[in-house]
Amino acid sequence: MSEKQLPSIIAIDGPAASGKSTIGKRLADTLDYLFFDTGVMYRAITWLALQRGLDMCNGAAITTLAESVSIDVLPPSQADGRACDVVVEGQDITWETRRPEVDANVSVVAAYPGVRRALSAQQRRIGQRGRVVMVGRDIGTVVLPEADLKIYLDASAEERARRRCDEIIARGEWADYDEILAKVIERDRIDSTRDVAPLKAADDAVVVDSDHLNADEVFQQILALCK
Ligand code: CDP
Repeated sequence: MSEKQLPSIIAIDGPAASGKSTIGKRLADTLDYLFFDTGVMYRAITWLALQRGLDMCNGAAITTLAESVSIDVLPPSQADGRACDVVVEGQDITWETRRPEVDANVSVVAAYPGVRRALSAQQRRIGQRGRVVMVGRDIGTVVLPEADLKIYLDASAEERARRRCDEIIARGEWADYDEILAKVIERDRIDSTRDVAPLKAADDAVVVDSDHLNADEVFQQILALCK
């Protein structure tokens, strides 16, 4: 495979728990590219806003927070299942961003146009350097519409809820499938109906439906698209 022919900017978008992070990380490692999971930035702002006791309905305050805080997304410093380190003001908040209260509020935070403006600008700057696999909801449509390869990774809500359940149980925590399914459906609803940068496949994206594929099959399919 000639290095020159590889797509330099690879965008992977898709709904909650569709496997974007697992596949994206593996792809980035294989190609020796930077892996950038943009969802962690929205999660970091949500966690910080909750920490500071901000009202989730206060878009102005949360936007000011997003504009003033610098979030570092760094290569993983520990082999504890994380794809990257999330660091804010010197504090490692990687696992805090995965807490249930963040899951429950992140889509509301991510729907504020000012929050999106602040975070998309940072994401774009990093993505434009190339040799990057960037994962999110709006990478191919808004953040990096010039991406060389756009993938929209999909799966049914039931399959995604099952995977999220397995992930939580693998971490040694307790998970309720019905509750997770309801949350996945609600997050999809907010993400795909918001006014700014809603979740949708770019016109020129390759849609990969992963319902009947295991992680390895999805990876092979996506790797083949890069060649
Ligand atoms: O890991 P999971 O697929 O559950 O979610 P995530 O990728 O960590 O993203 C968390 C939330 O951030 C999403 O539900 C969206 O509301 C928001 N998000 C977004 O709006 N735009 C992005 N580029 C990435 C995430």
